[in-house]
Amino acid sequence: MRHFITTDDLTNNEIINIFSDAEKFLKGEERGNELSKKSVMTLFFENSTRTRSSFEMALKRLGSRVINLDISKSSASKGETLLDTALNLKSIGADALIVRHSDAGVTYKLAQHLNSKSSVINAGDGSFAHPTQAMLDLFTIMKYFPDPQGKKIAIVGDIKNSRVANSNIKLLPRFGINITLVAPPHFLPKTDLKISHSLKKVIDEVDIIMSLRTQTERHNQQVYASLKDYARDFCITEELIGQKDIILMHPGPVNRNIDISDGLMNDPRSKVLEQVENGVAVRMAILKYLLAGKK
Ligand code: CP
Repeated sequence: MRHFITTDDLTNNEIINIFSDAEKFLKGEERGNELSKKSVMTLFFENSTRTRSSFEMALKRLGSRVINLDISKSSASKGETLLDTALNLKSIGADALIVRHSDAGVTYKLAQHLNSKSSVINAGDGSFAHPTQAMLDLFTIMKYFPDPQGKKIAIVGDIKNSRVANSNIKLLPRFGINITLVAPPHFLPKTDLKISHSLKKVIDEVDIIMSLRTQTERHNQQVYASLKDYARDFCITEELIGQKDIILMHPGPVNRNIDISDGLMNDPRSKVLEQVENGVAVRMAILKYLLAGKK
């Protein structure tokens, strides 16, 4: 069984093939019933709106049986380890487990233990990785820039705590996209990438802005006076981008007027909902690639 823990698990060729399939799913050219004999379980130990619903929609469109384990009512609360939970779900008949967890590296460890028994798909673990989000982000970028080589993106916000940023930082340069990280110093990881503390200084240079949510749940201490203070410098506003020919992205959930202004959320340059729509097609293509035909 193949696992999908980070974007490094796929070659560039595999990614392009997956995108080609995703495009067909998006256009309705391929009906998709490839997982009609599969059973997949989702285990979300952290909250989710998009990723969980998107995976469920993708699985159902591919004909798979889907069980969403309700973690709050599961035996995890009785002290069962995650590995034992996973092994039991495999025994019940799960061909794949889609896992979101607050601890970085959990999906990697699960994949090692389950080995060939069930596929493990990372739906976001701690601040480590969110590979399907990065895939749908790249797919969305390539809808506007079919040859993304040399395009420039500013990733803005709480980069240090963002699994979305981490996965994109690994994936986008493989396709020739130049990244500038834009954040206050306390939100920047150690990096060799270009950095800036000023949105205004980079705005004229970039083709794409990816705004991120401030992940207060991962802060050990408050690192700025208030979200309003942060927004003054890092919220993407109409005033900031003016008439510039850019695309604006955000993985969601968006904190309006902190990450992106209300007005810009409705601007045609905002691709936030398009990312979500693309996400279902990209996840269908990933699931098909990983699971269809596999015993
Ligand atoms: N982008 C994303 O992971 O959103 P959810 O937390 O709602 O799944």
